[in-house]
Amino acid sequence: MNASGHINSIDEVIQALAGVGYKAERRLATAVFLSLRLQRPLLLEGEPGVGKTELAKMLAKVLFRPLIRLQCYDGMEQREALYEWNHAAQLLHMRAAQSRADTDIVEQEVYQEKYLIRRPLLRALQEPAPGAVLLIDEVDRADEPFEAFLLEYLGEYQVSIPELGTQHAVAMPITILTSNRTRDLHDAIKRRCLYHWMDYPERERELAIVRAQVPQAGEALAQQISTFVARLRSQPFANAFQRVPGISESIEWAKALVSLDTLVLDPEVIHDTAGILFKQREDLAALAPLLNELLTPEQPLT
Ligand SMILES: Nc1ncnc2c1ncn2[C@@H]1O[C@H](COP(=O)(O)OP(=O)(O)OP(=O)(O)O)[C@@H](O)[C@H]1O
Ligand SMILES: [Mg+2]
Repeated sequence: MNASGHINSIDEVIQALAGVGYKAERRLATAVFLSLRLQRPLLLEGEPGVGKTELAKMLAKVLFRPLIRLQCYDGMEQREALYEWNHAAQLLHMRAAQSRADTDIVEQEVYQEKYLIRRPLLRALQEPAPGAVLLIDEVDRADEPFEAFLLEYLGEYQVSIPELGTQHAVAMPITILTSNRTRDLHDAIKRRCLYHWMDYPERERELAIVRAQVPQAGEALAQQISTFVARLRSQPFANAFQRVPGISESIEWAKALVSLDTLVLDPEVIHDTAGILFKQREDLAALAPLLNELLTPEQPLT
């Protein structure tokens, strides 16, 4: 990567992200590279806590671009995503102009840019070169009308504001969409995007992440955490749980174990700290009877 934040190969994506502590597997790095090259949005789908949001943050960092984030939720309206007029300021302007006779001009004046409140999607269009990294986070939580609007936005990267005219992108934002797949997105959205399914990391990559993020954890503990969590996510154990831990849970668990001065895992400490790995009562109940099997001496954790 050169100093201006240009990335020229898949290896450079991996290296640049590693430099800010993000361990990307090759397929993900390929998707990122192609998204940059082809100037196409990248849709990241995957289980919670596997690094979808973090990727967008780290990408902004390595490319020296500002991150502009739109957090989606059910019932989100265009005015929260795109822009709205500052009605209070407009009213004040009109009140101040009450005595003036040129009401037509006053009406135009209240639609000046200074009364425009720019929300993330508009800010991303107006960000000066080289442009922003636009994170449209948890797009599966937004409703269908918003998705239809988004489709238009991603297709043209321009927005029409009736009072001000069409706003074109000053520089193409690098766009990352994330989804937990709580519902299926429209094919039309997917067609606009490059797609990457983010899986749980394999043991070695998770170990590297734990080592990097929780350097206070001893080597033996870090090894045991990554093996134990990988085992939880593998069959037959994974079937016993509604939701297995993500990377963020592994990191939190490592921090918790360090603060308890744990050097190696044993059934008792796992039992006592299981609420960091599992956030559902049923999953906690399912874990207890499996602990002996998970910690079988024939398959040591390290
Ligand atoms: N590849 C990675 N390298 C380093 N750290 C990672 C990686 N993936 C995840 N993490 C860590 O895990 C944490 C959780 O990741 P993140 O919030 O991005 O998950 P997510 O997939 O967006 O989850 P959710 O769907 O719940 O929003 C991050 O704060 C980061 O510290
Ligand atoms: Mg996220």
